Amino acid sequence: MKPRHFLTLMDLSPNELKHVIERAIELKALRKQEVKTETLPGKVLGMIFEKSSTRTRVSFEAGMAQLGGSALFLSPRDTQLGRGEPIEDSARVLSRMVDIVMIRTHAHQLVERFAEYSKVPVINALTDDYHPCQLLADIQTYIEHRGSIGGKTVTWVGDGNNMCQSYINAAAQFDFKLNIACPSGYEPNAELSAKHKDRVEIFSDPKLAVSNVDLVVTDTWASMGQEQEKQQRINDFAGFQVSEELMSLAASDALMMHCLPAYRGLEVSETILDRADSVVWDEAENRLHAQKALMEFLLAQH
Ligand code: CP
Ligand code: NVA
Repeated sequence: MKPRHFLTLMDLSPNELKHVIERAIELKALRKQEVKTETLPGKVLGMIFEKSSTRTRVSFEAGMAQLGGSALFLSPRDTQLGRGEPIEDSARVLSRMVDIVMIRTHAHQLVERFAEYSKVPVINALTDDYHPCQLLADIQTYIEHRGSIGGKTVTWVGDGNNMCQSYINAAAQFDFKLNIACPSGYEPNAELSAKHKDRVEIFSDPKLAVSNVDLVVTDTWASMGQEQEKQQRINDFAGFQVSEELMSLAASDALMMHCLPAYRGLEVSETILDRADSVVWDEAENRLHAQKALMEFLLAQH
C-alpha cells in the first residue's frame, strides 16, 4: 500500500485535518494529566534538517519519545546527502530502515521527490514554499482560545512566504477568509492565490486588511536562505509591523500569532508578543501535540 504523506495541508481531507487537531487537543490534555500515551512503541522517525530549527526539532523528537518511539537527527553535514547522494536513493534506503520521515529543506520539489520514492510516510517540516505542521498548531491554538475558525477572517501581514502560502491552503481546508497584506513584490505565489480567490484577498494597506478581523498573523521578513536580503527587506516592509496600533483595528477579541522565531522591533513591535491577545507561546507548544497526532494518523494509515 502507498504511504500517506503530509507535504501540504491539501494531502489530508478537511475531515482528516479536523480529526488530527481533535486528537492533538486530547493528547495535550493527557500530557497535562501525566497519562502515558505510548501509541507508537518501537517506531523510528528519521529527521532530515537542511535548515536550522528549534521548535520543529524539539517537538518532533520529544513527541516521538512521548509516543514510545524514537527519533534520529540527520544533518547534511554528516550524511551522504550533503555529499550529493541523490535524494531518490536516500529515500529508498532510509525508508527501509525507519518508519516515518520528516524533512526540512529548501526546494519543495525535494520533499516531493523523496516522498515519491519512500516506502514510509513523509512529513514536510518546512520548505521554501510551505510549512504545514505549523498550521496544525496554529489552528489548534485558535480553536482552544476561540472555538471553530470556520467562517472567521484571518489577516496575514508581511511576506508572502511559506507560512503565508500555508495559510492560503488552510483557508480552503478550514473554511475561513484570508486577507493578505504585503508590500508590492512580496505577494504569495500568484497561481496559488488565484486558485483560492474565493477566500483570499490581497491588500497593500495593512490597516485596511486587519480591520475588524478575528486573527492577525505575521512572520519574519527574511526567511531562512534570505539572509543576504535582510536590509533590503527591512526597508521594503516599513509600515508592515504588527504593533499595538495595528492590533487596535482588529476585532476586540482578535488573537495574534507568529510561528517564531520573532524579531522584535521589525515584523512585531517590542512588546506585542507579551500582551494577552498574543498566543504565540501556546502556538509553539502546540507543535508538540499536533505533530504527535499527525504521526499517529500517518502511521495508522500505513
Ligand atoms: N516555527 C518553527 O518552525 O520554528 P523552528 O524554525 O525553530 O523549528
Ligand atoms: N518563514 C520562516 C519560518 C521559520 C519557522 C522561514 O522559512 O525561515
